[in-house]
Amino acid sequence: MSTNLDGSATSYDVAPLRLSVVGTGYLGATHAVCMAELGFDVVGVDVDADKVARLAAGVVPFFEPGLEELLRKNLEAGRLTFSTSFADAADADVHFVCVGTPQLPGGHAADMRYVDAAVSNLIAVGLKAGSVVVGKSTVPAGTAARLAEWLARDAPQTHLAWNPEFLREGFAVDDTLRPDRLVFGFADDITPDSPAVVAMEAVYGPLLAAGVPVVRTDFATAELVKVAANAFLATKISFINAMAEVCEATGGDVLGLARALSYDPRIGGRFLAPGLGFGGGCLPKDIRAFQARADELGVGAALGFLADVDAVNLRRRDRVVTLVTELLGGDVTGKKVAILGAAFKPNSDDIRDSPALAVAERLRRAGATVTVYDPAALANARRAYPELNYTDEGATGAARGAHVVAHLTEWMEFRELDPAVLRPVVATPLLIDGRNALDARLWREAGWTYHALGRPRA
Ligand code: UGA
Repeated sequence: MSTNLDGSATSYDVAPLRLSVVGTGYLGATHAVCMAELGFDVVGVDVDADKVARLAAGVVPFFEPGLEELLRKNLEAGRLTFSTSFADAADADVHFVCVGTPQLPGGHAADMRYVDAAVSNLIAVGLKAGSVVVGKSTVPAGTAARLAEWLARDAPQTHLAWNPEFLREGFAVDDTLRPDRLVFGFADDITPDSPAVVAMEAVYGPLLAAGVPVVRTDFATAELVKVAANAFLATKISFINAMAEVCEATGGDVLGLARALSYDPRIGGRFLAPGLGFGGGCLPKDIRAFQARADELGVGAALGFLADVDAVNLRRRDRVVTLVTELLGGDVTGKKVAILGAAFKPNSDDIRDSPALAVAERLRRAGATVTVYDPAALANARRAYPELNYTDEGATGAARGAHVVAHLTEWMEFRELDPAVLRPVVATPLLIDGRNALDARLWREAGWTYHALGRPRA
């Protein structure tokens, strides 16, 4: 029995399709679980045996609210399996490619080796006639056309569709089952009864029936939608952070500015939160890869502004390091700094390109004794930055004896801190709110000197 998007049983069965999902990171694991939740028979394939074993045992190897419950439910229902063997994907009707495309070491372009390995492995197991390969990884424009040629040559019995993913970490389940929109990219010679079209309409049937808008387009547009969306979001964040820089020079208040802008429906208030800027495994590397691809295509000038977006973003990290140094009298040597937050954003244990850890590490290198606390990302942070100090004893543990406290990832736990309780444990009540998320009045009333980015000093 399959379920509706509200969790109730459907009055119809989804198409009896078997799906494979190649790559079981954030995107792939979530996609596999959510497709099983819709009622499909799904196998998740990954070369990482540890990840596969954990998922098969009902354990999600990363922090994602709500995902583990759905994983267990669908494992128990027998609709979902995980494997390290591509042979287990051979009998699937639709294969989703969900592997990572990280930034190439030493360059800005995307590293395509995992996508190419996924396709190569799928071809090698001998895919079923009429089966459809669906690309979901974030790729440089032109990739789908290249893969389509490759499949036409080495697996002519198969078809290709491109279906970018817009899920946010922390909201991955909801974003997959209730997305804002779906994008289907098809080859130019496609007809409504082409296997790629039929497969996409069947797989996403429950979402389409629920009224999710869909854009059916060509390969290049489908690929570009994804990077354009992330480039726009990054630009919006850097725009407000650029305004924060100007506010710092003029005595303006970037929070009031952002609020006033947000009432204009053409601008809107989302992704207009000023602070330490964006990090994570997507926005930073995607804007760089987009620029690199545009350079290759001879249209680099069109995306030249993305270098500024990147630079504004990285300058916010410099600003926090400078502010801490200034507040500590120009030299951080031997001073104790408490860092609240290690994840690149709240509700995640992902520390890839984490602004908080970048700041922590720079202060440590400058001679400060830095202690970090995060509600979910400590294990990952410890592995990546072993020289930093960590505490499991919450904000209080990090702040004990601190000369300055820097709030760098806005977990709810930090928003709810009682500044009066934290006040007696620190050496000096100096707070930097790097996310503009704490109540300045409350902290000041409790005796703290409160500093934020882009806001007047009290
Ligand atoms: C981002 C996009 O939002 C998703 O739509 C996309 O699918 C995903 O990348 C991807 O390409 O896979 P995600 O990386 O999970 O999702 O994180 P976001 O919620 O976009 O936040 C990115 C960063 O921007 C975080 O460091 C966050 O703290 C920062 N941010 C966000 C701000 O500094 N200000 C804001 O107003 C919003």
